[in-house]
Amino acid sequence: MGANSDKRGRMSGKFDHRIERKGTGCIKYDRRPELDPFWVADMDFASAPEILEALHRRVDHGVFGYAQPHAGLNEAVIDYLRVRRGVEIPLEQIVHLGGLVPALSLAVKAFCKGGAVMTCTPVYPPFVGVHQDSGARLDTIDHVMTDLGWGFDWDAMERAVTPDLRVFLLCNPQNPLGRVFTRGEIERLADFCERHDLVLVSDEIHCDLIFDEKATPHVSALNLPEKFQSRVIALLSPSKTWNIAGLGYAFAVVPDDSLRRRFSAARGHTLAEINALSYYAAEAAYRHGESWRVELVDYLRGNRDALVDFIERRCPTLKVAAGEATYLAWIDARGMGVENPAKHFEEKAGLFLSDGAFFGWPGFVRFNFGCPRERMMEGLEKIAKAL
Ligand SMILES: Cc1ncc(COP(=O)(O)O)c(C=O)c1O
Repeated sequence: MGANSDKRGRMSGKFDHRIERKGTGCIKYDRRPELDPFWVADMDFASAPEILEALHRRVDHGVFGYAQPHAGLNEAVIDYLRVRRGVEIPLEQIVHLGGLVPALSLAVKAFCKGGAVMTCTPVYPPFVGVHQDSGARLDTIDHVMTDLGWGFDWDAMERAVTPDLRVFLLCNPQNPLGRVFTRGEIERLADFCERHDLVLVSDEIHCDLIFDEKATPHVSALNLPEKFQSRVIALLSPSKTWNIAGLGYAFAVVPDDSLRRRFSAARGHTLAEINALSYYAAEAAYRHGESWRVELVDYLRGNRDALVDFIERRCPTLKVAAGEATYLAWIDARGMGVENPAKHFEEKAGLFLSDGAFFGWPGFVRFNFGCPRERMMEGLEKIAKAL
């Protein structure tokens, strides 16, 4: 990671540098300033220098009227899809958005009228909330431990299908489990969607944060055989990888014309124009951010390994499986014998962790290790002490 040693021989590199975030109006630190936060999914790192430069250039222009995607952004997105996702996507199949969560909500609104949506839990909380925006029903199925790690309970999914089921929401890579589903799993899921005539909405926001792309390559819904493409909505964004979530930019790829029209029409007048700066940040991320990304993933892999090692050695009542992607660790705290582990860590250690109950699984906590290693270790020490 381009690390240097300081005078005492300690390693330090750009991701080791601690940046004060308190008082910058960020959710993570300023919502509960009295707590030490390892919750919401953004990182404590400055974004890539190439992105900061692009933003400075755009800010220096000084005029921030309504924006549209400029040619450079469109090219960068299409090149990204070709080079990183292995698909040739014509521009008209892309729907630009100010965030990915609104897209989940739009998909349910567009395709679930009077019907139901299915997803597997534990999962990023909006997956179990967006059905409320349009009065749809939600059916959840628990993920189960399989030979591949946390996987799908195919039998339970089949049993839960009802005639009014319309949409399946997939999170791949999976937040919070950190799984990168295999081609076999994704194709089986597509087949499930085809047999029950479901729209497959695939949230792939974490797909550039995979620790070993050779061992666990990302299989996008866009990589599925052609026959499935008429039911696919793939949702992507540079926001997690380059730590620009607060700027708000994401995009949907909807290969089928009719599906895309219905998805876009569901927006009505509910979504604001997209932030003029976000387009330039996204362009710079996709065009110039690859070497920074590779260094970041390397650093995060080191954090993941140190975290798993710490929990195994020092926290006998906790369990964690090494995730294959994301900077989020899903920790089984049921062995602690307390009703609400997140609350316990808050009260005993002043920590702000994500409560598994919001993901559908009480008794678990999610720990965000997208931070300097030294800071992560301090948080883990607090956890060990509070056990
Ligand atoms: C799986 C997943 N989807 C979507 C989001 C948020 O996307 P956005 O900020 O673009 O709405 C997150 C943020 O943590 C996430 O983990």
